[in-house]
Amino acid sequence: MSETPVIELIEGQQKGGCPVVHFDVNQQLPIHSYHEELDQLRGQAPIVWNTYGGGFWMLLNDETVRAAFHDHEVFSSDSTVVTVPEPNWHWIPTMENPPRHKLYRRVLNPPFSPRAVRDREDRIRQHATDFIDTFVADGRVNFVEAFAKEYPTKVFLEILGLPHEDSPQMVEWVEAVFGGLGSEDPVAAKAGGDAQVAINAYFVELLADRKANPREDEFFTDLTRSSIGDDPISDEDFLNICNVLILAGLDTVKSQLGYIMLHLAENPDDRQRILDEPDLIPVAVDEMVRVYSIVMDGRKVAQDTEFHGCPMKAGEMVMLTVPSATRDETKYANPGKVDFDRTDSTGHLAFAAGPHKCLGNHLARREMIIAIEEWLRRIPHYQAVEVDALRETGPQLGLEELWLEWEVTA
Ligand code: HEM
Repeated sequence: MSETPVIELIEGQQKGGCPVVHFDVNQQLPIHSYHEELDQLRGQAPIVWNTYGGGFWMLLNDETVRAAFHDHEVFSSDSTVVTVPEPNWHWIPTMENPPRHKLYRRVLNPPFSPRAVRDREDRIRQHATDFIDTFVADGRVNFVEAFAKEYPTKVFLEILGLPHEDSPQMVEWVEAVFGGLGSEDPVAAKAGGDAQVAINAYFVELLADRKANPREDEFFTDLTRSSIGDDPISDEDFLNICNVLILAGLDTVKSQLGYIMLHLAENPDDRQRILDEPDLIPVAVDEMVRVYSIVMDGRKVAQDTEFHGCPMKAGEMVMLTVPSATRDETKYANPGKVDFDRTDSTGHLAFAAGPHKCLGNHLARREMIIAIEEWLRRIPHYQAVEVDALRETGPQLGLEELWLEWEVTA
């Protein structure tokens, strides 16, 4: 963590009686800085106004973030990027509000249901082992590059029926979009915009192809044939859904796995515990997802409101600061500690709550569980190297790289 605090209350400044900070949510910081800085900030106030970008509220504890996830009449999804209140894109289902939002989830839920994920488990496991086999004899790997980026992408593109050769291009586009979202750096912002255009063009071509050459039992063909309420899905809706799926399905698992593998590298007792009790891995993964949660999404205030003492105006943006809420001391005892035996962690907000609860949460959980199982089967003991040099970035938290080393036995 950095020596000087990155987020500080600006003395003498208030907005409607609530504290004010300046915090660049796109910056690169030493590993774990975001979580630790947010812990400090939450200790001072549950809600602050951040002057970064055009300014936005930050909800920091479980109670406020949970309430906002459930109240679309005040906290609308018209924009979900806090630094872009008037987006020139429309992600579906992300930016739909109830009741229409439900029509889209009805179409999208089945391929990502617990059962659908269970049916794919063998394939997912195969992909995990194939990737690990490529570097297990080397004794050293950049985990983010060689595994965390590649494995969820391969799994996800297979579910969608897209060719794996497109994977490097997809990963590059998705990274550019996240790097540019709301960034004040014009180069990053332009690269992000260009990547969104490129993703859209990719799916325009795919849509034309699936209409001309429908395939049986294939995700995108099924989507072209689906209905939203009483109407056949429009081309525009189809494209807006595809854009979201690619953005939500690839980078998130990559980012989350980085934190999990780093934790298990640095905490050999926790690693030994799940080596001894592999049935504990699902619980362990969920606990690590809670402590190192990564998504900092936004909502747009739809009507003037007084929320927990802060006067919010229609049109203002609000960050639902999940990486802070999942470590709220009023909800969890010793919240920053990974504890596989805790009984108070069910219902955490790392995958959100309410109507927009993560569509891919069953898939993501299964991918991470399998990754840990297969990694530890082959590489039970390993260390992270050059941890002091590790960096993370926002607004969706993720490690830039993670070098791991282990002893190779003949
Ligand atoms: C560890 C991995 C993941 C985490 C931590 C995560 C977290 C989240 C969170 C917090 C939201 C709520 C966003 C909001 O309401 O503004 C969300 C929504 C969403 N996630 Fe995930 N996600 C992960 C993986 C995935 C995967 C693998 C998919 C692939 C299908 C996916 C698809 C989606 C979609 C489509 C939404 C929008 C849902 C809606 O608006 O109804 N996510 N995710």
